Amino acid sequence: MAQRASAVTRRAVLASGAGLAFSLAGCGSRAVARSGRLDEIRLGDRPIILAAREQAVRLQPGGMTPAWIYGDAAFPVLRLKSGASLAVDLENRLKEHTSIHWHGVRGPNAMDGVPYVTQMPVEPGEMFSYRFAPPDPGTYFFHPHCNTSEQLGRGLSGALIIEGDEEEPFDDDVVCLIKDWRLAKDGSFLPFLTLEGAGRAGSFGTLRTVNGQPTPDIEVPAGANIRLRMINGDSSRVGDIGIMGAEASAIAIDGSPIKPFQLETWRLGPAMRLDLALRTPQAGRKVEIVDFFAAEPVVLATLVAQGAAKRSGDFKPLALKAHGVPEPDVAGSEMHQLKLAESATATDYSRLAPIELPDGRKIDLLDSLCSNARTLWAIDGRTWPQTGHEHLPPPLMEFRKGETALIELQNTTPHVHPMHLHGHSFKVLSASKLKRPVHWADTVLVMPDERVQIAFVADNPGNWMIHCHIVEHQDTGMMGWFRVA
Ligand code: C2O
Ligand code: CU
Repeated sequence: MAQRASAVTRRAVLASGAGLAFSLAGCGSRAVARSGRLDEIRLGDRPIILAAREQAVRLQPGGMTPAWIYGDAAFPVLRLKSGASLAVDLENRLKEHTSIHWHGVRGPNAMDGVPYVTQMPVEPGEMFSYRFAPPDPGTYFFHPHCNTSEQLGRGLSGALIIEGDEEEPFDDDVVCLIKDWRLAKDGSFLPFLTLEGAGRAGSFGTLRTVNGQPTPDIEVPAGANIRLRMINGDSSRVGDIGIMGAEASAIAIDGSPIKPFQLETWRLGPAMRLDLALRTPQAGRKVEIVDFFAAEPVVLATLVAQGAAKRSGDFKPLALKAHGVPEPDVAGSEMHQLKLAESATATDYSRLAPIELPDGRKIDLLDSLCSNARTLWAIDGRTWPQTGHEHLPPPLMEFRKGETALIELQNTTPHVHPMHLHGHSFKVLSASKLKRPVHWADTVLVMPDERVQIAFVADNPGNWMIHCHIVEHQDTGMMGWFRVA
């Protein structure tokens, strides 16, 4: 028997009314997570039910917003000890089909949550059981993989934290999920996909939030060594994340440990994660999380130090424990080139007739394709989808199990593309424009006219997606798949 998800930790006590207007908790019986933190759910042996459902939330003063959330409150943080099995039953209480993709997790193909590719979509009223043991500790993101512009745009997503990578425990561990919302004055949503946005850098939000609140104050212990888990949960916006008021070190990228280095700023594209270690200041002092991308930096959230200092002296963050991802054989492998381009052949699927199912129900081809009316983007000359879901387009690449995949992503467009591969962590070997240390990742920014070389051991059998994580690009063609067999 599954038990209903309930938040167990970090439910802060209400102190004043100030944060209420922006709380993401619904108007029901929820207590309000006041400290700027998300509700956390510790996963145990018994499965939990995560219901995907609509929930009116107040994000801005003008009116309520019909958000879509998992469980009781937006952006649940699921925590699991490494080695343990994840047991989540997705219950679909939406009016359209959905699924959960566990972004970045090197899990089994059948649990990857891609409709028509790894599972049938979960129809309204149906349940789907996700059961697998995530192999690597780290910070992950989960979200639907169908009609993603709308479903993610409405907020349907969460964080998955696999614990067990720390040599020494931190004094506190803070998840910061960044997401912008596209809202009209009355709180209703603006269109999630616009031709203008899809054809360029994506449609940007009108309201920027961290953990569902505009510029929240997040309480942290003073003089403490804390771990900050930054997740870019936005569909479009690339941030350039920096910390003011404390020295922060990067300790993991996309959940994978990296030799700690002092953070100046880190370019964080959609679905990318950045783990930071920092020593908080004395009580009353503040640390700001800032997006330096635009000429005018934007404060995304403020850490407010409280209580007696926990530590003194210098802080030199320890590296996280090494993960078990196999080292690719770069020298002995042939390079696959993947060209990211505008699509020459725009397909208008909206002109096609609905499909009639054996039981008489009609489904719109567009819905069944999980796509929108136009394809604007291509990988290696192919757009997604090309055909109905009963026929996958041919794979972009095929690998024998255990073979090293060595890939050069070539961006021939004037826009940045955060490219994501399912089922594997890859090593970012080199990039021709944006300087980055060699690091492991599952999503990598490919700057305009840039060439980025990545490699990984294709050791996880299955059909895996590769796509841009600017969701409007993904939904208008910049997606394909590769096979490991
Ligand atoms: Cu985060 Cu295929 O996606
Ligand atoms: Cu893109």
